[in-house]
Amino acid sequence: MFARYDMRGVVEAIESGEFPSSANSMWRYSELLPVKSPSFVVSLGEGWTPLLLTRRLGTHLGLRMLRIKDEAKNPTLSFKDRGLCAAISKHLEMGVDSFALPSAGNAAVSMSAYCAASGTSAHAFMPEDTPQQFIDSCRAFGAEVILVEGTIVDAAAEMQVRDGGWTDLSTTKEPYRVEGKKTMAFEIAEQMGWTVPDVVICPTGGGTSLIGIWKGFEELETLGLIDDRRPRMYAVQSGGCAPVVRAFERGTEEIEAWPRGETRAYGLRVPKPFADRLMMKVIQRSGGGAVAATDSEIESCQWMAARLEGLDFCPEAAIGLAGLRNLVDTGVIDYDEDVVLLNTGSSSRYGGIPGRNEID
Ligand SMILES: Cc1ncc(COP(=O)(O)O)c(C=O)c1O
Repeated sequence: MFARYDMRGVVEAIESGEFPSSANSMWRYSELLPVKSPSFVVSLGEGWTPLLLTRRLGTHLGLRMLRIKDEAKNPTLSFKDRGLCAAISKHLEMGVDSFALPSAGNAAVSMSAYCAASGTSAHAFMPEDTPQQFIDSCRAFGAEVILVEGTIVDAAAEMQVRDGGWTDLSTTKEPYRVEGKKTMAFEIAEQMGWTVPDVVICPTGGGTSLIGIWKGFEELETLGLIDDRRPRMYAVQSGGCAPVVRAFERGTEEIEAWPRGETRAYGLRVPKPFADRLMMKVIQRSGGGAVAATDSEIESCQWMAARLEGLDFCPEAAIGLAGLRNLVDTGVIDYDEDVVLLNTGSSSRYGGIPGRNEID
């Protein structure tokens, strides 16, 4: 299920080629967000994150133009805020007052914060090995935390068994988280003067960014704000849990479950994404691909971003950076291409970036 809009009405609202709001949050695109009455918007200032043109990191990798969409600057330090803010605001408008989701960590923290801000209740189901800071943050925001043995798949199964009368905000099982995520496409295009990059690199787990960003670019084209050129979308996963990469290599639309998801980039530990066909369609239609990097590259890539660019990369984004390096080294991405890499969150919930002395 996808949210659809009266595009003629939106075209009229942005007649001058600009969205009427100048809000410094994703709500500057409220005409293309699902909440009808602004009084239901529970905003903590999510979105409108910087798109940083790297000075040294791109050159180090062999790229002329590398930009980082720095999602670590969101209110709870990850891009999950966009989706959870849109979804919780919309469900509030529909009268919902209790929410639950299975999460690797960041989505649970985000849900907990927006539930606190809206006075609704949050129930977070997480794998028991989730780093303690995620658990503590959820509890600080007043959420109930249920720890489950196994991966996010097992956490989701436990949530179904308990069924507490809440609204299920699981990744891609309701339409509004994708709506929030698509604002990354709006921002990237607007920040590039209503053009699109050649390549977008997405550290990928459940696929909301891939699907959302693609939808966002489609809507901008419908509105005539960009032409029909699209970036190639690349999903990057950890070799310890790479069901999307395997499906891409096999050329299938269905993603077979990965036996045991093992990676320290917890947000990428999704052995069986629910929206598999949608994810594979985006990758294939865009002419992009899916590649894996190894967990052993996480720290060196976090350190590379920190040392060369002053940026705080979460482990998931470090995997994205390692994947980008592979794609450049193998000639899949050219020096001249304009590349955007998502830094999907901050390292601080994982306890920060360990110190090191050399760059790989
Ligand atoms: C920091 C981070 N990056 C990337 C992802 C993957 O998200 P998705 O594939 O749903 O866009 C997650 C999901 O938990 C995450 O927490």
